[in-house]
Amino acid sequence: MKKITLFAASLLLLAGITRAQEPAPYPQITNIGARSLQSLDGTWASLVDLYEVGAYDYRGKPKPIGNTFFMDRHFFADETKLVEYDFDVAPEIKVPGDWNTQRMDLYRYEGTVWYRKAFEQPRTPGKRYFVYFGAANYASVAALNGKILGKHVGGFTPFNYEITDLLREGANSLVVKVDNRRHLQDVPTVDYDWWNYGGITRSVYVVETPETFIRDYCIRLKKVAAPANAKAAKKAAAELKKYGSAIEGWIQLDGPAAAGKTVTVAIPDLKVSKQVTADENGLAKFEFRAKVSFWSPEFPKLYGVSITTDQEELKDRVGFRTIEARGNELYLNGKKIFCRGVSVHEEKPFNAGGRANSKADAQALLGWVKEMNGNFVRLAHYPHNENMIRAAEEMGIMVWSEVPVYWFIDWTNPETYANAENQLTENITRDRNRANIIIWSVANETPIVPHRLEFLSGLVDKAHELDPTRLVSAAMEKEYINDNTLTCNDPLAAKVDLMSFNEYVGWYDGNVDKCDRVNWVFDIKKPVFISEFGGGAPAGRHGDKYQRFTEENQEYLYQKSIGMLSRLEGLAGTTPWILKDFRSPKRFLTGVQDDYNRKGLVSENGEQKKAFFVMQNWYAQLKEQYESK
Ligand code: GCU
Repeated sequence: MKKITLFAASLLLLAGITRAQEPAPYPQITNIGARSLQSLDGTWASLVDLYEVGAYDYRGKPKPIGNTFFMDRHFFADETKLVEYDFDVAPEIKVPGDWNTQRMDLYRYEGTVWYRKAFEQPRTPGKRYFVYFGAANYASVAALNGKILGKHVGGFTPFNYEITDLLREGANSLVVKVDNRRHLQDVPTVDYDWWNYGGITRSVYVVETPETFIRDYCIRLKKVAAPANAKAAKKAAAELKKYGSAIEGWIQLDGPAAAGKTVTVAIPDLKVSKQVTADENGLAKFEFRAKVSFWSPEFPKLYGVSITTDQEELKDRVGFRTIEARGNELYLNGKKIFCRGVSVHEEKPFNAGGRANSKADAQALLGWVKEMNGNFVRLAHYPHNENMIRAAEEMGIMVWSEVPVYWFIDWTNPETYANAENQLTENITRDRNRANIIIWSVANETPIVPHRLEFLSGLVDKAHELDPTRLVSAAMEKEYINDNTLTCNDPLAAKVDLMSFNEYVGWYDGNVDKCDRVNWVFDIKKPVFISEFGGGAPAGRHGDKYQRFTEENQEYLYQKSIGMLSRLEGLAGTTPWILKDFRSPKRFLTGVQDDYNRKGLVSENGEQKKAFFVMQNWYAQLKEQYESK
């Protein structure tokens, strides 16, 4: 009996299962930037704990909370006590930021790092307090003043905990255990082509709210069904001209006085001010008409919106637009568009990379997209930080947002599904009011195996349920009908709104000239999106156009790919792989890759490769073609 327990204990340790289930985070507080905040960004104390000493005993059993690092005890405060850690003298680490590029001894580190922030937060009677994390990769458990707040899983979406009753006068201790180890049941699972940057990678705030506050809201153009006939269309057009578009939404209040509370939604530029009353669940729905100027890449119009109760005013800037697929064409605000895009990983634009998180990072990365005559980005393969989304919205760049259901996921594991659905829900909750997001993507390059379609269909339905106004898709894969004919026959294609897939003809699939002889056909008539194509070349490596990993080969591949794709009927968007070289633990070619995927059109130091200008030219033509209509 004893022997099994030891084995089970070590398995428990290896599997990273923690103590009695920690609570889940509090429902998400949205539009965090507009709240009353104390930033906890900056320098934190850190302890690198590969052997999980801070949480487990030498039998592999979870330690009683009092013996864990969550307690933030101090050896040097009383050296008579055996306490073998002290955050007060521990090495420092920056938040937000990954640990891999901050400390070279953690460059490839996968395990636990303990973070501790000491802070003061004066409390005002009648106010509530929450601690908000923009993201922490991958699994994190937080505690305040030795009390566990909860656990969050998923490295790319926000979460928050209520701390009102746990805050102290004077110094407070926030301890966060962050673990970026990979497990089969995780989302993403154990294998992916990007660096497993660990840590508290986005900003952390203490949020102060009224006792009853506006926790979440939605404001958007009401989706109107296509008029059934000419008479109905005429009537709809007359109404639109006379009254403007229908705008709808809801406000979720949170607190003891939520039920029956009056809420006002105002858009001064539209001379709109609508008063509504919250129902017994604190939910207030509204609808009104207004003559709006639509948000578009050419004209990224945002309106100042304020939501007011007797206790607070919350402001936001919101754009209004419609996006729809009609047959194999894509329409934004009723006008046919082409998504001139590029795929982007969330890495800093310069200086040895690491996780991007600031507005400046976003503007630099998106600046290259604009320079490429782009109007669209595929943010791969996970939700990027809110600064990126809002910067793109201001710069007139449409967004494909994706959750990291990547390659082979544990399809039959209900926890894995719940995790994936939760990440999707957190993503949509944070970004639902951003006009520039036009597509939610539920997966990338997942194999057509049993249980996968059910899993992904569930996510597609969830996305539509949470947000009936946007398109939902996934990056699927191509396949051959015969030597010269390609298609995408993924059963998921019937479920999603776009025929979107990755293709690497001329790189992983044959040499460049193959592009000239292949054609594409599709059974399903939906807008076609090439969510990835391309090839690698380090900036400055030159040679013959058939010599791989040279700028000339990458340039030639792009020229040929564009030729091939331009023959494709129903092409509505492209996001070549990828804007910038990015770190990957799967790239080994010494002197060429050196831990970098070199498929960027820009190098990790910001050098634009020859292929960048091939895309710039093509997108200039498409811009002319579509915007002059
Ligand atoms: C895949 C995958 C990417 C990867 C790319 C590549 O298609 O989706 O994440 O980086 O190919 O091989 O470069």
